[in-house]
Amino acid sequence: MAFKVGLLGLGTVGTGTVEILRDPAQRHPLLQELVIHKIGVRSLDKARSLNLSPDLLTTDLDAIVTDPEIDIIVEVIGGLEPARSLILKAIAHKKHVVTANKAAIARFGDEIFTAASEAGVYVLLEAAVGGGIPVIEPLKQSLCANRINTVIGIVNGTTNYILTRMQTEGGDFGEILADAQQLGYAEADPTADVDGLDAADKIAILASLAFSGRIKLSEVYCEGIRQVGAAEIAYAEKLGFVIKLLAIAKRESDEQLQVRVHPTLVPKAHPLANVNDVYNAILIEGDPIGQVMFFGRGAGAGPTASAVVSDILNIAAILKVGRGQITQADVPPILDPLLACSHQHYCTIAPMSELVTRFYARFLTQDYPGVIGKLGTCFGDHEVSLESVVQAGLRDGLAEIVVVTHDVREGNFREALDEIQRMTTVAKVASVLRVL
Ligand code: HSE
Repeated sequence: MAFKVGLLGLGTVGTGTVEILRDPAQRHPLLQELVIHKIGVRSLDKARSLNLSPDLLTTDLDAIVTDPEIDIIVEVIGGLEPARSLILKAIAHKKHVVTANKAAIARFGDEIFTAASEAGVYVLLEAAVGGGIPVIEPLKQSLCANRINTVIGIVNGTTNYILTRMQTEGGDFGEILADAQQLGYAEADPTADVDGLDAADKIAILASLAFSGRIKLSEVYCEGIRQVGAAEIAYAEKLGFVIKLLAIAKRESDEQLQVRVHPTLVPKAHPLANVNDVYNAILIEGDPIGQVMFFGRGAGAGPTASAVVSDILNIAAILKVGRGQITQADVPPILDPLLACSHQHYCTIAPMSELVTRFYARFLTQDYPGVIGKLGTCFGDHEVSLESVVQAGLRDGLAEIVVVTHDVREGNFREALDEIQRMTTVAKVASVLRVL
């Protein structure tokens, strides 16, 4: 039996996917039943490392997604359009889809999965989060007996690389970003990574699976790492923390979730504190399993292609046993409920003001008697309990005061900060970060 694959895109992930498909030895035997039927590329003239028959390549991507011979479309072109339209067209032509496209799924997942359910086809996306780390399928299948309470991930390799270097070298964000760009670890336009948008796409997808509901991306709180300076890294270190960009989805109550991305002080003993460089990790807490952590490479040709090909094999396996075949026009096949998207409602996301968390804050103030007392009184007036207050020294002639709170309601903390900002003795609120 042969299953025909149409590949959209032959960049890093597309090339890695072809390499696995063409070298099935000692991998799953079902790989030998997969045939690359067509590959859609932007230019036929581009020099490529793969030695491909010229008639395999086409610039007509529409012709691939409508080709009656193709069973499975693999979308690895990325970006929003034409990826979204091609995926929808493939679904309309009853093709199963494998995609690595977190941006398109996080924004258009509702439209794509509604169309897929109606057409009776699968849309699988293991490669969209965590690159080669198997986390989507475990959330759908292996962990499905659990009530998931928390998903916390380091899901962006670029920011983890930058923060790790800031921590080990003591450098500032800007200079390490520039160096990372030169070395190819950060994109020329680093916005999606450093501003947390890539991590927000990924946690929206993980939250949707963990909590069985759709997530509106616009409701995901997102703060990047641009404001994390060398001073924060150094103070965090002294206080027993490292700073990580965390993507967090948590059950707040029966009705509400928290879904957020922000730089966070992580205690050095926490399992995520030692996930360094470009590595990703996702820690899931469920009832009754407790904590499980998935760790590995979150990007790159080989790891991401490993996830893409596992999705292709999942679909091929279903087709091989005769499920997922369109036998009667207008009667979609029944989809495997553990593999297909089975929810349609939207989760309610709690406002950040309701979040209860610890905070770290650094203030630059006049060096007068009573300034620390005033800060403490103001926090107390807003029911913000302080765990520690340290006057760390002088910076530019101003006293540098670092505060760590106990668990407090974010709304109360922000009200106190507003008041502190207006104090004549306070020159600057230099930094505010949440603490895990
Ligand atoms: N840009 C992402 C990262 C990789 O830095 O982790 C692709 O998801």
